[in-house]
Order: sequence, then C-alpha cells, then structure tokens
Amino acid sequence: MSDLPADQKPAHIMAIANQKGGVGKTTTAINLAAGLVELGYRVLLVDLDPQGNASTGLGVAASDRKVTSYDLLLSDAAIEDVVRRTQIANLWISPANSDLASADIDLVANEKRSFLLHDALRQPGIDAFGFDVVLIDCPPSLSLLTVNALVAAHSVLVPLQSEFFALEGLSQLLLTIRDVRKSANPGLRIEGVVLTMYDGRNNLSQQVEADARENLGDLVFKAVIPRNVRVSEAPSHALPVLAYDSTSKGADAYRALASEIAARLKR
Ligand SMILES: Nc1ncnc2c1ncn2[C@@H]1O[C@H](COP(=O)(O)OP(=O)(O)O)[C@@H](O)[C@H]1O
Ligand SMILES: [Mg+2]
Repeated sequence: MSDLPADQKPAHIMAIANQKGGVGKTTTAINLAAGLVELGYRVLLVDLDPQGNASTGLGVAASDRKVTSYDLLLSDAAIEDVVRRTQIANLWISPANSDLASADIDLVANEKRSFLLHDALRQPGIDAFGFDVVLIDCPPSLSLLTVNALVAAHSVLVPLQSEFFALEGLSQLLLTIRDVRKSANPGLRIEGVVLTMYDGRNNLSQQVEADARENLGDLVFKAVIPRNVRVSEAPSHALPVLAYDSTSKGADAYRALASEIAARLKR
C-alpha cells in the first residue's frame, strides 16, 4: 500500500472533543486534517459522531457507508475494510452514520467497552497505511463513544466557541479526562484549546479569548479560528475550506493551527 520507511513512528492519535454541540469540532477535524496533509502528513479522520457530519463534509456518500466506525468498534472490522480515501490525497476517513447512535447501548455489555477504539486503531493492518496522525471527531457528549476516543488517544484537542459560557462546560470535560487518565490512559495529554468562530469586532469574543488565555495559559493555541462564511460553505462542496477557498481567512487560520500542532508533534 505504501513503502514505509523501517523507522516509521506509530501514528499520533488525537481526539477532538467538547461535549457541547456546534462549537466547531467537526469543522476543526476536517480542516486541521487538511492543514496537516498540506504539511506532508498522512492523516486518518475517524468520524465517531452518529450524525456523520465529517463524513458528509468530506463527500462520503450515504451509500458508501456500509462499513463504518461502528464496525471498527463493534464488529471487529479490519481497518482496510472501513477506511476510504477522500478527494484530498493522503486524507483518509473512517466514516460514520446513524448506526453509531446505538453504540453506547451496544457497548455497555462489552467487557472491553472503553478500549474498543484503542484496540481497533492498534490492529496490525493499520501500519500498511502509514498514517502519521489520526484525528477522532467526537460526538457532542461525554458518552462511551467519547470515552473510547479519549482512551485511544495520545492527546485531546478542545475547540472552544468564542461565546458566553464557553469555559463553563470545560470543567466537566477536564474531569472526564482526569477519570480516563486514572482508569485507562495515564499518558493522555491535553494538546490544547483552540478558539473557534471568533469575531474580532465582538467584545464577547475578545472577552472569552482573554479569559481563556488567563485561565489556561499556553494551552490556548496562538491560532484563533475566525467566524468565516467560507468555512461554513465548504462542507456543502464536500471539501475542507483549505481546498474550497484556499486564500480565505478560515483556511489561513486552520493552516496556522496545523503548523502549531506539527511543531509540537515533532518534539
Ligand atoms: N469558523 C467558522 N466560521 C463560520 N462557521 C463555522 C465556523 N466553524 C464552524 N462553523 C459552523 O458552525 C456549525 C457547527 O460547527 P461544527 O464543526 O459542526 O460543530 P460541532 O462538530 O462541534 O457540533 C456548522 O454549521 C459549521 O459550518
Ligand atoms: Mg460535529
């Protein structure tokens, strides 16, 4: 499949999580993935949300989702039967559909319920793809699906919408991360917090940024994602904004985020 250098490092696995919906998780997953691809990385995006927005946003037709992330978790599916190429070279996706909606219930009875994604992403067959980074787009909840992502991951990236109450939900997520560290994944790092849908003309956005930087310090990425209509249009063209409108402010911001993350990955 690819001519792997013998010294190929295992992929860095990063969950993109925030139990609030509509804060920019999926948008960040798609566009950070595209930004990392531009920097030369091979990236797998695991869509772990029953809504399947990342899959739709990258143009995976509903009819092409017969085998999905659900099967990766619960049917022992081989990675090569689940992942598929996207229109972007070197960007692969494990798609999702509403099958995942029952996953939480289907998982409960499973002894390894929290480790299924962890194990699926470490099956020997994945090496042949040579992924450098695996991004996991989490659902808007702290459900077993999100726990699976946090157990599987080396780090977690938290998109924070630049609006009132943004920081409030964060403590709950931090508690969940602490629990996962204690019980299953002691090495889980917080990759950082990225401010999304930022409107520089809005005092509230500025206030949220100031609060976040004061409370979270270096955890907050320098790159801030502006509210940008091109970002919201791109999924209906089945493309990351980096490909849909390469010179837009949104594309530039996601490139900046990808560069910051790439610098950390190299350390
Ligand atoms: N930077 C942005 N500028 C404009 N619209 C955005 C931006 N980021 C996200 N959106 C829009 O906000 C909505 C929620 O974003 P999404 O990434 O789906 O959030 P989540 O995955 O956290 O539920 C979507 O309609 C998306 O297109
Ligand atoms: Mg989403």
